[in-house]
Amino acid sequence: MSKQTLTITDNRTGNTIELPIEHDTIPAIGLRQLKVQADDFGMMAYDPGYTNTASCKSRITYVDGDKGILRYRGYPIEQLAEKSTFLEVAHLLLFGELPTASKLTDWNARIMAHTQIDKDLKGVLKTFRGDAHPMGILISAVAAMSTLYPEAKQVHDSEIRLQQVVRVLGQLPTAVAFAYQNLLGRPHTDPDGALGYSENFLHMMGLTGDGEVDPVLARAMDVLFILHADHEQNCSTSALRNIASSDADPYCALAGAVAALYGPLHGGANEAVLRMLAEIGDTKKIPAFLERVKNREVRLMGFGHRVYKNYDPRAQIVKKIAYEVFDVTGSNPLIDIAVALEQAALEDDYFVSRRLYPNVDFYSGIIYQAMGFPVEIFPVLFALGRAPGWLAQWMELMDDAEQRIARPRQIFLGEAERAYLPIGERG
Ligand code: ACO
Repeated sequence: MSKQTLTITDNRTGNTIELPIEHDTIPAIGLRQLKVQADDFGMMAYDPGYTNTASCKSRITYVDGDKGILRYRGYPIEQLAEKSTFLEVAHLLLFGELPTASKLTDWNARIMAHTQIDKDLKGVLKTFRGDAHPMGILISAVAAMSTLYPEAKQVHDSEIRLQQVVRVLGQLPTAVAFAYQNLLGRPHTDPDGALGYSENFLHMMGLTGDGEVDPVLARAMDVLFILHADHEQNCSTSALRNIASSDADPYCALAGAVAALYGPLHGGANEAVLRMLAEIGDTKKIPAFLERVKNREVRLMGFGHRVYKNYDPRAQIVKKIAYEVFDVTGSNPLIDIAVALEQAALEDDYFVSRRLYPNVDFYSGIIYQAMGFPVEIFPVLFALGRAPGWLAQWMELMDDAEQRIARPRQIFLGEAERAYLPIGERG
């Protein structure tokens, strides 16, 4: 077997160092040995946006962006989306294995027994103005839970950790639905622990058609949650890991993750896609819109991904679900624009040469809208789906002896030391 090391020669000095290679990675700290003078700091790697830096070792989610592969704990996303329920996938992400039938029954019951929210949280949720963005409300709701469960600070106690996991998964949909009904000035609907997870959420949101939640829509919601459940070290998960690395409680770390998700380049993209499709308004206007994208006036939202340089496997599944949902709800006219836009982009050299494909958010918003969700709430739906992934990543971090407080370095390019100027002497 060849030697598993990397030899680097510093051409400034002629010095050579040899670094171990493990998992196709070198320890960045090894670069510090490269110095011109003995008292130099040594070299670092510069990587804005962390495009090629592994921040952790993880066993949860595997993504191969070139091949379009996504697996949770080894299971292909296509099989989980077809065969599993969301809470079953949450169990898989959190504990590493698909549950047995009896464990799944217990797990479902445990989560559904924690769907009631505290009256003080209801009080917080009632304070927002009618035009408040639901993501701002969700960030506040999760942060407020930190004040209600102070024992959550004991992040190195695994029993206490699990208790917070159950609370988050149980309560988040209720908090979202309560806030939503409150914004609309409608009475809230209590959670019903006898329903399935997604069915209960649609029930509390009032998306019940003639009385009961349509099983096709409940299943579609469940699958959309599964597709969003984890995506390894993305922007919001990295934000969560950074915050939690200081031993902040999980609610504070989750509030930070939701905040990172809010941006239109991440979880806010599903909302931005809908607004973009509505603005295009007609398939005839697609060529002119794509010209604007190519002139860099706007981005084609729902396209492109840091990791996927091939079709996002989640987007294929979402596209299929769209038509199943439309059979129940009637079609969303924006689907024709989306399909034509995707086709035009995939035939255009600008997108082909940059390997830009639809991501999970290109079609999800069209489904949410057909189901009756308002556009502003789309990123919140992403957050509800991502919650088990965030929590699994948090639990993994807490048990990882190699992790330390997250603290990147910088290249300082500012002023060297200079003398303080009294105010009267400044130009
Ligand atoms: N529309 C037009 N051009 C794009 C797009 C897009 N959506 N995405 C990337 N590009 C272009 C860039 O302009 C750049 O071109 P250049 O090399 O000529 O300058 C090239 O493709 C590479 O793009 P980067 O911005 O370097 O890619 P990065 O990995 O940093 O960004 C991101 C990934 C943020 C997802 C980007 O593709 C984007 O903005 N997409 C639209 C927003 C979106 O859909 N976000 C959701 C992502 S999925 C998720 O979070 C669940």
